[in-house]
Amino acid sequence: MNKKDSNHPIIGICVSEKKSDLDRLIKRRIKHFHERAIFIKFYIEDLDFHNLRVKGSYMESENKKWKEGEFPFPDVIYLQSHVDLNIVKRIEEVIGRNVFNTFTLDKFLEAKLLAEHTVLQPHLPRTQKLENEVQLQEFLAPHKNIFLKPIYGKVSIGVVRVVSKDTGNIEVFYRQNQNIKREAFHSFKDFWYWFSPNLSQKKYLMQQGIQTMTIKERATDIRLNMNKNGKGLWEVSVLLFRIACNTSHLIPGPLAVIPIRSLTRYYFKNEEIDKMEKSIQTLGFTICEALDRSGHHMADLGLDLGLDQNGHLWIFEVNTLPHPILRVNDCSLTRPLEYAYYLASNTDHKTQPSPN
Ligand SMILES: Nc1ncnc2c1ncn2[C@@H]1O[C@H](COP(=O)(O)OP(=O)(O)O)[C@@H](O)[C@H]1O
Ligand SMILES: [Mg+2]
Repeated sequence: MNKKDSNHPIIGICVSEKKSDLDRLIKRRIKHFHERAIFIKFYIEDLDFHNLRVKGSYMESENKKWKEGEFPFPDVIYLQSHVDLNIVKRIEEVIGRNVFNTFTLDKFLEAKLLAEHTVLQPHLPRTQKLENEVQLQEFLAPHKNIFLKPIYGKVSIGVVRVVSKDTGNIEVFYRQNQNIKREAFHSFKDFWYWFSPNLSQKKYLMQQGIQTMTIKERATDIRLNMNKNGKGLWEVSVLLFRIACNTSHLIPGPLAVIPIRSLTRYYFKNEEIDKMEKSIQTLGFTICEALDRSGHHMADLGLDLGLDQNGHLWIFEVNTLPHPILRVNDCSLTRPLEYAYYLASNTDHKTQPSPN
């Protein structure tokens, strides 16, 4: 296929072999997208900067099947997997700022980047890299309730909530398969003996634990997916309350996911819900704008937030390359394609390069 064969924009979707489950998701995104565009799915190593071509698979419009081939360099590249910033910069030299989702960092660097923005600081639990036993003990002492998180973790795997009791006992909560497991130790030393082997396999951060609002004694958090839309502007794609199956924190499995409006079921008044919704969305936009200001070209964010007992909002995690929540009407399914289409049809945003 040559560019002159078609007037439709070529949208490249960069995937990785590590995420084989993306295939079905991308098909689903394309199926629900209604503009005419040419979609090419490719691996980053198959971009040919010399001849400005790409090897990949093209979605045939008649039978919605992928067909392998070699194609012109895409007009827009939608990153669905991590790509090194140096490669992003090479892409920008060819197509300008038409490559997005350029920033994926580990949880610790992400927390550091967010903390550079004064407006976000009141919403960030205190966070530090976990380096040794003494430092962990010193961090736990004032907070009494902390989270230990692997910096490359997801779906709560490896996350351990540590609670220091007045008796000197230490209580921990962590995910084991689809359940939360509780364990108790008589002393910090016993706890450290149990936990420290994890550090030889993974790097961890420690974070101040927040007691989120409970519903029927269960912990809650908030998922807010934000996307740039077909006009190039940030928009809320979905806002959900998640109710854990336990008192500690969210793990996948038996958890209730409800639209914020359904909180009326749990005796919240409409005015309270209006206020909550507004403040959650405002924080969402503030996070997106902060990332825009840092110069990274993002368009697809999954925010894990929490509302504490005093109604204060906290940021637990900013997920880059989030998965849409398919069981509800989550606009983040198609918005990345709408944004890609917008970028392909506009030229005024192309100049500013990504930061180093
Ligand atoms: N500092 C915290 N205080 C209270 N709850 C937290 C905190 N950090 C995380 N959680 C809870 O634990 C869950 C998993 O933590 P998160 O940082 O999102 O890691 P993961 O990458 O594993 O999803 C969150 O969705 C939230 O419910
Ligand atoms: Mg999370």
